[in-house]
Amino acid sequence: MKNHFSRVGFILAAAGSAVGLGNIWKFPYVTGEYGGGAFVLVYLLAILFIGLTVFLAEAVIGQNAQSDVATSFIKTSKSKNKNWKFAGFIIFSGLIILSFYSVVLGWILNYVFTSFGTLPTDSKTAGSAFETLISKDIASQIIYHTVIAGSVIFIVLKGIKRGIEKINLILMPLLGLILLGLLFYSFTLDSFSTALNFMFYPDWSKIDSNALLAALGQAFFTLSLGVGAIMTYSASLPKNANFVKSSIIVAIVDTAIAITAGLIIFSFLFEAGAQSSAGPGLVFISLPVIFSGWGVLGQVISISFFVALVFAGITSAVSMIEPSLKFFIERFNFTRKKATILCGGIFYILGIIALLSMTIAFKDSLTFFGKNAFDWMDFMTSSVMMPLAAILTCVFLGYFVEKELLKRIFTAHVSVTAFNIWYFLIKFIVPIAIVTLFLNKLGII
Ligand code: PHE
Ligand code: NA
Repeated sequence: MKNHFSRVGFILAAAGSAVGLGNIWKFPYVTGEYGGGAFVLVYLLAILFIGLTVFLAEAVIGQNAQSDVATSFIKTSKSKNKNWKFAGFIIFSGLIILSFYSVVLGWILNYVFTSFGTLPTDSKTAGSAFETLISKDIASQIIYHTVIAGSVIFIVLKGIKRGIEKINLILMPLLGLILLGLLFYSFTLDSFSTALNFMFYPDWSKIDSNALLAALGQAFFTLSLGVGAIMTYSASLPKNANFVKSSIIVAIVDTAIAITAGLIIFSFLFEAGAQSSAGPGLVFISLPVIFSGWGVLGQVISISFFVALVFAGITSAVSMIEPSLKFFIERFNFTRKKATILCGGIFYILGIIALLSMTIAFKDSLTFFGKNAFDWMDFMTSSVMMPLAAILTCVFLGYFVEKELLKRIFTAHVSVTAFNIWYFLIKFIVPIAIVTLFLNKLGII
């Protein structure tokens, strides 16, 4: 099948989508902010019971319908009501995330290059270098954003097989090698055991509803859920392929990489006596200072680390735009080229707005209700649109799709008991969990 993934290709591409900045940048700093072990445990439970459940939900819809997201909802529904096309709105979250994701990848690319020069020796210097890049250096940010956006566009133009499958086939093994190398290096540090302890010894005092919500949000984001990415990739999975097995493998790979990244980064931080709770600046400010203390080896590690982040991020980025491309190609008969120009143009421009909104020169005109455009895009997607998409997907499968159909598809690969557990989670547990946390966050309950 020419427009389909091979089975291994699907697993690699879905893992490539899942493994991204969410694992290597966000997971360690969120874990650091919530004090380590207990958060990790809650996160693992969220992945197992909620993340994997919703992942299977997107996969089953996609593989069964073999269409774009909007058409897939219509085709899978009991009623075949055309209005289910409105569920297709979820794909636009992917474009919005991609806008600022590309900007952040641009900063990382910048760090790849600056790692060849002299690294900052104290956190004040490191902090102001990062600060300058973000708040003053419009030209560099635009150049790096353009390079990243250009690469993403170049890859998706080539399509599923020759673009997306191929890039994942190259970058995912390289990413794995670099991370293994870094992990082996962290084994040699005395602080490795401190890092292990930090990540696996639970301190329950740090867990409140904010931590639970953060863990749930992270579980969705890290598995690429709620934007139609997994649904879209699954639509190119051969119809008889075992989507359950593939989904489980992807969830395991994603989790293993997040934990590995956490162990590496915390070993480095503790070795240098640095704080684990530095927030988003963790990899941009704390790490370079540590690397600078390790001489040439530190430089090599710094370059490898940021290259790994770029590789991980690029494979995620292509999966954020693909749902929109497929939507325009299948529903509006666009050529791939025309769809790419349209969607590429949208996220490229939104990205420029996002980056300008953090600069001193433009932040006043690009701040609305106390949040700048960058933060708005992040907030609207991860806190509003993605959870809504997840609820929608669960309620859809639980109440608007023939149970027998789902049962038939699942039991081709797993036992009836396993199907019943999944169905119960989708129908009751996951929607209730998301709604509860959502309302709690809004201060309603
Ligand atoms: N899962 C990716 C990460 O962890 C992010 C992502 C979100 C990718 C949504 C695709 C869709 O970085
Ligand atoms: Na991830």
